[in-house]
Amino acid sequence: MVKKNEKQLIEQRKDDHLEICCSDKYDIEMSVSNGFEDILFVPRAVPEINFDKISIESKFLGHNFSSPIFLSSMTGGVHEAKSMNEKIARVAEKLQIGMGVGSQRAALLDPSLVDTFSVVREVAPTAFIAANIGAVQLNYNVTFKQIKKVVEMIKADALILHLNPLQEVVQPEGDRNFDKLLPKIATLSKELDCPIIAKEVGSGIAIEDGNALIEAGVQAIDVAGAGGTSWAKIEAVRAQQQMKLTNQKIGELFGNWGLSTAVSTLEISKLSENVEIIASGGIRNGLEAAKALSLKANLVGMALPIAQILKDGTEIQLIESITLFIQELKTAMFLVGAINLEALRSVPLAIVGKTAQWLSARGFE
Ligand SMILES: Cc1cc2nc3c(=O)[nH]c(=O)nc-3n(C[C@H](O)[C@H](O)[C@H](O)COP(=O)(O)O)c2cc1C
Repeated sequence: MVKKNEKQLIEQRKDDHLEICCSDKYDIEMSVSNGFEDILFVPRAVPEINFDKISIESKFLGHNFSSPIFLSSMTGGVHEAKSMNEKIARVAEKLQIGMGVGSQRAALLDPSLVDTFSVVREVAPTAFIAANIGAVQLNYNVTFKQIKKVVEMIKADALILHLNPLQEVVQPEGDRNFDKLLPKIATLSKELDCPIIAKEVGSGIAIEDGNALIEAGVQAIDVAGAGGTSWAKIEAVRAQQQMKLTNQKIGELFGNWGLSTAVSTLEISKLSENVEIIASGGIRNGLEAAKALSLKANLVGMALPIAQILKDGTEIQLIESITLFIQELKTAMFLVGAINLEALRSVPLAIVGKTAQWLSARGFE
């Protein structure tokens, strides 16, 4: 059998991920919730606002958004991914919302893949676009010069450094040396001309790590908490296909690992004076988005539903689903009397259940 080189392995992996995520055959969503059922609004019978005047305009890292929505990092790096990135970027441009591309490491190894990423800036000249690479790659010979190259590749407004220790440990070919990344992130943040967004991929970020990342110069955090796509489950499927039993078993055991998105958003919201926040991980409707935004998130992000719509669907279908999401968000705002996102941040909330227990166990008010 011919052994694949690193470049072919990354392409194959990206292909597998999309295939597994978009197939009905696999159960790759967590069986724990995103926690937003524990965040309760106080309904207003007299909202004292006009629904038609509700504004959801927002600002993130100095960029204006028409709605606080981020189409989270997913793809690129395989030839089939180009059209998906192109469609997402067109929608981001049309709706003036943000998007992230998937990890650009493959394009560093194979220049023929650059266009699967650079297409986004061609079709979205003004939308907020974030570049993406795994933070752990700083321990695997990816240089600052190469990181500047991934930013330049798509003329990105920000760089997402994703943090995915669980995924790497379950992945049969994973990169597991996460030692001393913070000082490297700190140096990178000084050298880079654009802001850095630190992002998990489905296990959330707690306040301690949030603080350390802010000290390292990170300007925004995407909590990407538990309750949505499970990268442990996805890698367990791949491990099973490759007959790597230990990886499969570990992926299955840790399939629901992490802080729920609601908990992680609450923890990071304590730092909101020093960092901007994207709440993501299992957010599937505008009511959940309203709750996340009321917890001081600046944007909400989604990944899996976008991939599933675009696998066989069209840009129009994606726009329709985002339009519904926006109507749901505005409905929630209407029913709590919030005319804009600033007002939404100060409506009263009741926090109950496991989320309240977690906050009290951690000593938060
Ligand atoms: C097909 C697919 C590919 C992904 N690839 C990346 C990636 O390359 N880089 C990254 O930071 N996150 C990646 N993610 C993670 C998402 O950005 C997001 O953090 C996670 O899926 C949780 O959000 P969700 O529950 O809305 O899917 C990917 C997600 C999906 C579904």
